[in-house]
Amino acid sequence: MDLKTLIRDIPDFPKPGIVFRDITTLLRQPEGLRATADLLREQCQGAGFAPDYIIGMESRGFMFAPLLAYQLGAGFIPVRKPGKLPGAIHSVEYDLEYGTDCLEIHQDAIEAGKKVLIVDDLMATGGTAKAAAELVGFCGAELIGFAFVIELVALKGRDCLPDVPIISLISY
Ligand code: PRP
Ligand code: ADE
Repeated sequence: MDLKTLIRDIPDFPKPGIVFRDITTLLRQPEGLRATADLLREQCQGAGFAPDYIIGMESRGFMFAPLLAYQLGAGFIPVRKPGKLPGAIHSVEYDLEYGTDCLEIHQDAIEAGKKVLIVDDLMATGGTAKAAAELVGFCGAELIGFAFVIELVALKGRDCLPDVPIISLISY
């Protein structure tokens, strides 16, 4: 299945000049959702990823990370926007393609030394994924890789990420 045909392009959202790659049209298609989940699992297994935990970033990371955690037999850990997690947190600020934001993780979410895979719907500048990697580092855990459904290759997000394997299913 050509997953790209299920992704809708919305020009000038949320700001002029941004082509928004809308995954809601993929998620609502049962075959598209299943194919995406299966491909993520296959590519992660092919890359040799065997994580103890999978981290997903709020909000759209939550749509894929728990699916993959279930398939790989890993736990799921949410990384959230500010003020949402009730326990003691690590926090990091980062730049977006269209603004700045902050991400947080529970300090006791990951035991030191555990293997962690970071999953998100899309990599643009790589700022979000880099911030999540910093949070993994604050916890003393081992980052083993990144997995994305979509990669906006022209933005060269890979260049700012730590030197671990990166997989993505769809490139623009
Ligand atoms: C989007 C997307 C990624 C991030 C990618 O999230 O889901 O997390 O941007 O951009 P980057 O590689 O330049 O950091 P967004 O912050 O728009 O929030 P959302 O998931 O709540 O929609
Ligand atoms: N997140 C950052 N850039 C994006 C884009 N162009 N489309 C969808 N989500 C994004």
